[in-house]
Amino acid sequence: MLKIVAALALGYLIGSMNTAVIVGKIYGRDIRSHGSGNAGLTNTLRVLGKSAAIFVLAGDILKGVIACFVGLSLHVYLFSGEAQDCVSLLAAGAGVVIGHNWPVYFGFKGGKGALTAVAVLFMINWIMALLCVGFFVMIVALTRYVSLGSVSATILFAAISFIPAFGNTFYFYIFAFLMACMVIFRHLENIKRLFSGTENKLNFTRG
Ligand code: G3P
Repeated sequence: MLKIVAALALGYLIGSMNTAVIVGKIYGRDIRSHGSGNAGLTNTLRVLGKSAAIFVLAGDILKGVIACFVGLSLHVYLFSGEAQDCVSLLAAGAGVVIGHNWPVYFGFKGGKGALTAVAVLFMINWIMALLCVGFFVMIVALTRYVSLGSVSATILFAAISFIPAFGNTFYFYIFAFLMACMVIFRHLENIKRLFSGTENKLNFTRG
């Protein structure tokens, strides 16, 4: 139990380093007061342009990967567990997404967690992650709605988690349920805008 709490807490502290807020501050703007108000990759691209977005892309992926390594290391080195039975990896993965969404360093106002969640999923099951990313890219290419891509890929993720061939554990089901609920909950405003036809489309015009 202790290692799960420790992994969750460390993941949370890593995830709280919200890259979009940090990059926004470097560019002299609080990303949360512009565009959609979301501290994430899409809004950074929208408000600050491609160069800022590249840093956010790298940062959000990196922190997901680092949190997973921390969870894994805690399990294997500190608690001498088997690498394949790693609940603390899942806990650190959930923690980093919680931190990204509700960052302790930035007034608990962060992003929506989709990108960091997919980085975590790559560390846990890269085949599932590739399927979700492929589906995301297809939806965004067809509609230019990033939010629709994120929500659709999240639903796909939750659905394919139960495919026996992936060999997922009971703990993974809990993790998948939590992650899917979190990402969809954070996209509720986007979902409302999608239904009312007022959602922003992806736009690459900023440099
Ligand atoms: O994952 C975030 C994306 O799906 C939507 O971002 O800024 O359009 O609300 P945004």
